Amino acid sequence: MFEDAVKQQVLSSALRLRTASSTLTRDFYARLFTSAPELRAMFPEDLRPQAEKLFDMILVLVQSLDHLQMLVTELEALGARHLDYGVTEEQYAVVGSVLLDTLADHVADWDEADRAAWAQLVDYVSDLMITGARDHASPAA
Ligand code: HEM
Repeated sequence: MFEDAVKQQVLSSALRLRTASSTLTRDFYARLFTSAPELRAMFPEDLRPQAEKLFDMILVLVQSLDHLQMLVTELEALGARHLDYGVTEEQYAVVGSVLLDTLADHVADWDEADRAAWAQLVDYVSDLMITGARDHASPAA
């Protein structure tokens, strides 16, 4: 699915994380709501449970790089739930780029190869979630 070099790059950057997951996710939401304040109202007041789920999902993805196809159904279902949360297709690009910017600040020696590899992973996940949302919006007869 992904070239070995891309998987290696994602894995190696995950191993270079230099902050606790709670710090990373707190920073992610702070950045997200600074660049797109209108998104804040979509989330609950207490972001901590949400932040944990997001980080768990990132961990699952990193650990599943060799068999991402096992996650297709799960990611499509996640996308369908996101449609119910009111998430639009355009918002995936916003969230994806904030995620990459956040990782850039929390991964030691982050470089363009890291960004390119993570961008592929984020695009892959977003595409599947959007597919799930579309199917949910208009299920095949
Ligand atoms: C790479 C894409 C994304 C991933 C992997 C992701 C992951 C998650 C996860 C794991 C949850 C926990 C709840 C559940 O499993 O249903 C969640 C909830 C949520 N996500 Fe995302 N998400 C993504 C994109 C987005 C985007 C683009 C938005 C738009 C603002 C968004 C907004 C939300 C909201 C509002 C919730 C529900 C919060 C709540 O009511 O508890 N997510 N997301």
